[in-house]
Amino acid sequence: MDHFDLKNGVLHAEDVPLPAIAAAVGTPVYVYSRATLTRHARVFRDALGVLPSKHIAFAVKSNPNLAVLKLLAKEGYGADVVSGGEMERALAAGMAPEGIVFSGVGKTQAELVRGLEAGIGQFNLESEEEGVELAALAAERGLRAPAVLRVNPDVDAQTHGKISTGKAENKFGVPYDKAAAIFGRLAALPGLDLRGLAVHIGSQLSNLDPMEAAFARLGDLMHTIRGAGHTVSHMDLGGGVGVPYKAGDVFPSPEDYAAMVARVTGNWGVTLMFEPGRIITGNSGVLLTKVVRVKPGVTSPFVIVDAAMNDLARPALYDAWHDFLAVEPNGERMTAHIVGPICESSDTFAMSRDIDVVSPGDLAVFRTAGAYGATMANTYNSRPLVAEVMVDGDKWAIVAERIDPAAILAAERVPDWLE
Ligand code: LLP
Repeated sequence: MDHFDLKNGVLHAEDVPLPAIAAAVGTPVYVYSRATLTRHARVFRDALGVLPSKHIAFAVKSNPNLAVLKLLAKEGYGADVVSGGEMERALAAGMAPEGIVFSGVGKTQAELVRGLEAGIGQFNLESEEEGVELAALAAERGLRAPAVLRVNPDVDAQTHGKISTGKAENKFGVPYDKAAAIFGRLAALPGLDLRGLAVHIGSQLSNLDPMEAAFARLGDLMHTIRGAGHTVSHMDLGGGVGVPYKAGDVFPSPEDYAAMVARVTGNWGVTLMFEPGRIITGNSGVLLTKVVRVKPGVTSPFVIVDAAMNDLARPALYDAWHDFLAVEPNGERMTAHIVGPICESSDTFAMSRDIDVVSPGDLAVFRTAGAYGATMANTYNSRPLVAEVMVDGDKWAIVAERIDPAAILAAERVPDWLE
């Protein structure tokens, strides 16, 4: 459920008509609903209430906006970060260092040191080499780094190939059949407090079965490791639960997910860690855009909007679907291709889509844009870096200013030998 609804024929975010935001801030602009974010955070947390001991670390990569992180910190969420930049954001939002999980396949030495010095709660090790390096850095500082070992369970998540992470050929984690031996060697290092295992097989999963299979494999490994005399107190189950992008699609609910987790992990006797991203932020944001022009095409007209693949990359990268709705629909429908202004054909949001009739100057939204939207934006074609707004009831505020091409140009230099 979200709070983007038609009221008197005009699409609103909570109690704010979207044309008011477009008039004040311009387009394209991401619009987040505070009530929706809060609701998703609470529904997910409450669903996990059936589990005895857990910690939820929001996957910052899905939406790293400072206001979003602040809201989730207030809801008791920690953070799952994958770079020094994300770590600094989580800390700046007031998240407790011990509630931060540091994931990522290529943490640099500087990032590991910063994480140690900040006292972050858990390092998710992606290789034996990383564990050895972290252990040495921690020991030099008289510390023991809390860590878990990420395992690649070789399970097909049945999602888009570019967001699958749990097959043997993917770069993530250590191979399943080598994991127990690696765990044993790393656990012996004085600089590490190796306390468990982690898994994350992919994102936007529409079916919980592959996750259940991966968790069960992780549980078997946990028993093997305990059998070898090690203590396992924490198991990190990652993120990955998908959300419906098309009106009418049905996805597993947080309750379904929690029931599955409870079934698999019932006798584990550990603190479970979760790293949800999209399920919290996905449906809490839309990308508000304006129709620039409608031009005839061979099969259908092209609706050219002022948002492009640099603002919302998912359709170009993963052929992702985002519902497209007119902000003031007149009840008529048309079939059209929806495209942005960028000079390549991948700048296409939809082909031959049945949509509300729109004309030049009309406002429209791409829905379910709160996750992996603004965070993946860039400035290709020297376009601005997209702005972000958060709505709260009848109030709204800019939570990320649009960064103009002039500011980016001002950061560039021509070497004197080119003058
Ligand atoms: N934990 C780890 C280790 C991850 O790699 C990810 C996502 C998450 C948690 C959060 O997954 P979520 O709950 O959001 O599915 N840009 C792509 C998605 C990439 C996901 C990367 N990892 C997209 O737009 O679909």
